[in-house]
Amino acid sequence: MTDERQNSKRNILVTSALPYANGPIHLGHLVEYIQTDIWARFQRLRGNNCYHVCADDAHGTPIMLRARQDGITPEELIAATQKEHEADFADFLIDFDNYYSTHSDENKEFASSIYLKLRDAGHIRTQTIKQAYDPEAEMFLPDRFIKGTCPKCGADDQYGDNCEVCGATYDPTELKNPVSAVSGATPVEKDSEQYFFKLSDFSDMLQQWLKEGHVQSEVANKLDEWFAEGLKDWDISRNAPYWGFEIPDAPGKYFYVWMDAPMGYMASFKNLCDKSDINFDDYWAADSKNELYHFIGKDIARFHTLFWPAVLDGAGYRKPTAVFCHGFLTVNGQKMSKSRGTFIKARTYLEQLNPEYLRYYYTAKLSSGVDDIDLNLEDFMQRVNSDLVGKVVNIASRCAGFITKKFDKQLSAELPETGLYNDIVAAGEIIAGHYENREYNKAVREIMAQADKANVYIDENKPWVLIKEEGREDEVQKICTQGLNMFRLLMTYLKPILPATAEKSEAFLNTELRWADINQPLLSHSINKFKPLLTRIEKEQIDAMTEASTENMPTEEITVSGPLADDPIASEISFDDFAKVDLRIAKIVKAEHVEGADKLLQLTLDMGGDTRNVFAGIKSAYKPEDLEGKLTVMVANLAPRKMRFGLSEGMVLAAGPGGKDLFILNPDDGAVAGMKVK
Ligand code: MSP
Ligand code: ZN
Repeated sequence: MTDERQNSKRNILVTSALPYANGPIHLGHLVEYIQTDIWARFQRLRGNNCYHVCADDAHGTPIMLRARQDGITPEELIAATQKEHEADFADFLIDFDNYYSTHSDENKEFASSIYLKLRDAGHIRTQTIKQAYDPEAEMFLPDRFIKGTCPKCGADDQYGDNCEVCGATYDPTELKNPVSAVSGATPVEKDSEQYFFKLSDFSDMLQQWLKEGHVQSEVANKLDEWFAEGLKDWDISRNAPYWGFEIPDAPGKYFYVWMDAPMGYMASFKNLCDKSDINFDDYWAADSKNELYHFIGKDIARFHTLFWPAVLDGAGYRKPTAVFCHGFLTVNGQKMSKSRGTFIKARTYLEQLNPEYLRYYYTAKLSSGVDDIDLNLEDFMQRVNSDLVGKVVNIASRCAGFITKKFDKQLSAELPETGLYNDIVAAGEIIAGHYENREYNKAVREIMAQADKANVYIDENKPWVLIKEEGREDEVQKICTQGLNMFRLLMTYLKPILPATAEKSEAFLNTELRWADINQPLLSHSINKFKPLLTRIEKEQIDAMTEASTENMPTEEITVSGPLADDPIASEISFDDFAKVDLRIAKIVKAEHVEGADKLLQLTLDMGGDTRNVFAGIKSAYKPEDLEGKLTVMVANLAPRKMRFGLSEGMVLAAGPGGKDLFILNPDDGAVAGMKVK
């Protein structure tokens, strides 16, 4: 950081990547939004100007197909999703200056004007290429919508560009027995003209830019590999039907979603400028001196460190000051999984836990690197309870009562230990340096080291003992004043991480927590009644969250992963697939509780001679005794699955949102166990 920057107010624009508008926010996403929010809040707390903008990424094939599947328009889908996203972010205390959508007038304007500038400067070319086409759905198929047999290892049911079984990557045309995931039809190859952005024109510029330190070293190393392979031109167009913006001079061709998505940063900011007195060009003109940072996950680094700077440069805009890339979230050391209950949605978390716990835990784990971070739920609980409740809040609760009850809420006129106070003030610069460099784990470690000092001070001075001794009241007032002043420093340092607790502390201390004020202790100052600031995490809350995140599948084996994991289209099957399912009437001859299982009942099903043992996740809705003797419908040819409790030899069908509202299918009289369901 230059001296100039330290002394004058910086003008900063930060962005978080734009979440796709077809799925809920989960704890993985939040690594990013929390990281960015803390950085932006820190900058503001230090007196800088810092805007944080974001938007929903509302275009692309998955959104189009998802809307079609739900029987709504893409506009309806993205509006509903955006509403949910905004509520989730607000409840996690993510303080965006603007939250917008890539499906906006501003973004349409940027997409076409930037494209035209690139075209006029000669950076666009066309080429006819062969692509997979679904003759039934009458659409070209993105790689991820083609499935087939892996050409390397022969595994069935693999996606168009990589095999989950052997890890091979390949071209969709190499897949054996390819089928469209949209209609089940066999894709054919079809020629069409596409528009390419000539990334190779920017090779020298990009290599120079990367040398200047705008990306982390790990990312720069990765980019070197891509440079070594040579920069390929980038196909920025898609054929109709496509959900996006039509290319101005090419009817029937649309901008590929990744072309207009990063422009969403500009569009959201432009929308903010139009509502306020901020000048757009001050931040985006080629000669802008203001700072621009993109926070992103490592999976989208190529888009942000090659394509995007090249597009900006080619269209005459400034390039980012830096792109800050972070790693991926694992939960309990593993990829998030629906069957393990670790694919946790933002909303599910909020139903059980305070958002500041997660903000704190992520901060304690985040560094400036691209390493993955692990949310270990046991460690999460311990860490929050011991650091925040046990160390920080405890300082205030141990001192507040004496000041309010014995000294009419008045702090003393001087500090007994100015040296100790000044030590903690001095740590502020170290902490600020760590925040600035996104070494959040180090900032937290430093803050907690200061909290330890404050606790030692109180432990040694024991105001609760002194208060019982004659004539030592002054001392107690001073010790507690010292304690509360140290608490005030700690809460100032924690304010970017814990905005709500900081706000409550401000009400209690009767002062605004400002970094610029840390040199002056609060003396002869009147405080307010102390109210509990944060409570401990209870194990039951974590269990309830995991429980609510566990998909209602009677299995522990299935994990949903891969590019289609959250894509509803993944569950679309062809008629032939459907015909394979053998549905039968079954009679429930016995139903029992399963020891140690929260959701399962063990059913013995009679299928007209043949009996089956099935574990069904319907305990929340049925008592075993009410089920015995009933007829229901089961999947009879499901491969047996080994579960913790035994072998499950089929599946019963049930409908409903879950919990108490879950209804097993109950065929009318006339049905007989073993009968085929048509
Ligand atoms: N729509 C694109 C981004 C366009 S930016 C012009 C996208 N969306 S996303 O919803 O898949 O992801 C949004 C951000 O969340 C990305 O930066 C992504 O890396 C991050 N994360 C998504 N899942 C994550 C984890 N499990 N862990 C950490 N970050 C994750 O990509
Ligand atoms: Zn394979």
